[in-house]
Amino acid sequence: MPVTVMVAGGAPLGGELRVPGDKSISHRALCIGALGEGTSVVRGLSDGDDVRRTRDALAALGAEVHDDGDVVTVSGGRGVLHAPGAPLDCGNSGTGMRLLAGLVAGLDGETVLVGDASLSSRPMDRVAAPLSAMGATVTGRGPRCFPPLTVKGGGLQGVEWTPEVASAQVKSAVLLAGLSASGVTVVHEPVRTRTHTEELLESAGADIEVVDDGVGRTVRVRASPLEPLDLIVPGDPSQAAFWVVAGCIVPESAIRVRAIYAGATRTGFLGVLVRMGASVDVVTRLRDGGSCADVAARSAPLSGTVVHASEIPSLDEVPALALAAASAEGTTRFVGMGELRVKESDRLEGTARLVEAMGAAARVEGDDLVIEGVRPGGLRHFRFDSGGDHRMAMAAAVAALAAGPGESRIDGFSGVATSYPAFLQHLRHLGGGARVQLVAIDGPAGSGKSTVSTEIAARLGVARLDTGAMYRAVAWAALERGVDPSDAPAVAELARDAAIDPGPPDVSIDGVVVTGAIRDAPVNAAVSTVAANPAVRATLVERQRAWAAAHGGGVVEGRDIGTVVFPDADVKVFLTATPEERVRRRHDEAADGIARRDELDTTRAASPLARADDAKLVDTTGRTVDDVVDEVLSWLR
Ligand code: DC
Repeated sequence: MPVTVMVAGGAPLGGELRVPGDKSISHRALCIGALGEGTSVVRGLSDGDDVRRTRDALAALGAEVHDDGDVVTVSGGRGVLHAPGAPLDCGNSGTGMRLLAGLVAGLDGETVLVGDASLSSRPMDRVAAPLSAMGATVTGRGPRCFPPLTVKGGGLQGVEWTPEVASAQVKSAVLLAGLSASGVTVVHEPVRTRTHTEELLESAGADIEVVDDGVGRTVRVRASPLEPLDLIVPGDPSQAAFWVVAGCIVPESAIRVRAIYAGATRTGFLGVLVRMGASVDVVTRLRDGGSCADVAARSAPLSGTVVHASEIPSLDEVPALALAAASAEGTTRFVGMGELRVKESDRLEGTARLVEAMGAAARVEGDDLVIEGVRPGGLRHFRFDSGGDHRMAMAAAVAALAAGPGESRIDGFSGVATSYPAFLQHLRHLGGGARVQLVAIDGPAGSGKSTVSTEIAARLGVARLDTGAMYRAVAWAALERGVDPSDAPAVAELARDAAIDPGPPDVSIDGVVVTGAIRDAPVNAAVSTVAANPAVRATLVERQRAWAAAHGGGVVEGRDIGTVVFPDADVKVFLTATPEERVRRRHDEAADGIARRDELDTTRAASPLARADDAKLVDTTGRTVDDVVDEVLSWLR
């Protein structure tokens, strides 16, 4: 997933799609499946990194997990699971860590749960307290129990627990621990939170009782064997919210999101949108005992409203709803949003910042977020750093789609891989524009092009194209097939007809892997002649442009990238180094060979090696790769 994405507005959106399987249900289905006696079959699981971590963690606890594309099977059972030999890495996922904490509290022995930097700054005290009350020893950093979290489990007793702050994750952790505790475990929720854990435990035949009382809920569970699950995970409503809001606020749009989970605790955002005057149609149908809905949204004028935290218990859809508020007439007040501060990032501050960046006004009053909308057409493009928070990045993308003609730059986009790897694909499918930056790197042999461009591509999270490898592959094929490299028409025909895969990892031509062979002496000697052939250049340049269009940008290196292939690249760099340094770097190629190639590349008629007027000149002699890369990245607007 790219780190920085440019999203264009100005086009209406239209079409249908399915969002990834619901993350909350996916985590829970895996955990409950692993506790079931037998093999659970789960279809449509979320493909994000968060859920993959939970899957890997359960495998480390002894469950057998098989992934057959759309179908995942989990075979476990209470007698099979055991404390792991190494820490469980939950990545970015608070849900994963809290659920797993509850599950491993029921296992004898010690489990350590770790996470990334963002997760390591999220408090775990609210799960640590009930699990400790049940007899586990749970320790983390400081009084708020920040990860790494160490759980010494086994020998649990049931508790009666009323969470201080309504939280589905805490409820779920206690219920999962309760499955291994003696006696009854009871959770009283003053405000009902998402109900997936109870619902899935019921489908697994657990000894569970649920009583709703006004806006609250009491759940009782006793240890009992669980049956395996057979489940289709519906689409994630919190991901659907981005497209539904996009349909509402991008002028002239009509979007349908199919088969999302439609339980009341997860679809409060739809009620809020309807109250704002949105044109949203919900067609609900029952599937596998759970409710599932197709949601259609089309653009319509919106007006401000008051949104209470109890309408959206997880607060996951608040960043998306804030965009609707920014495009609505009047004021919208989000009441009681304090919990947004302890999500993957401080989403209260982040949402206010995004709304301001897009041209509306936002202020935080205590725990409330107040947004003054702007008239239609009043939104503008912006630059926004999501700090790696997936929901803030996706919200920013929708904001850019609504901001009219032009383009916004969103940094910290790679976090989207945690929950919605196909997000950009879906954005394009609906008619939105998204691209990554295009970095053009030119320079002679041994100037550091490959090393520098590989590192830049890695840092930006984008693909890299080594165009020299394409010329080399054609030269290799000519030699291999007995075509004289200086027979211009014959080599041109060969290039036109050849299927070239420039990798990475492997370079191939017409299906033959030539990664190593194209660096050998015969190719070194022939390639400049091949590269001087205008017809070969025309063919390969066209393919290089097609590559960049398909990738939405990327890092492209070669001899004419900034001058001919991509004169409008976001940044153009011309690397050099002293002749001695370049010979030293190309230790496998004789000095006179390099000099001859430089001479041929620089003096040929067709697109000679030359620095574009606006290319930044970087002498890499005696500099570290990181130093050069930092400098190049600093030029990206
Ligand atoms: O970067 P390299 O050494 O792998 O390039 C191999 C040859 O291809 C070199 O002689 C220059 C030529 N080339 C070119 O003319 N245009 C490009 N875009 C890339 C490489």
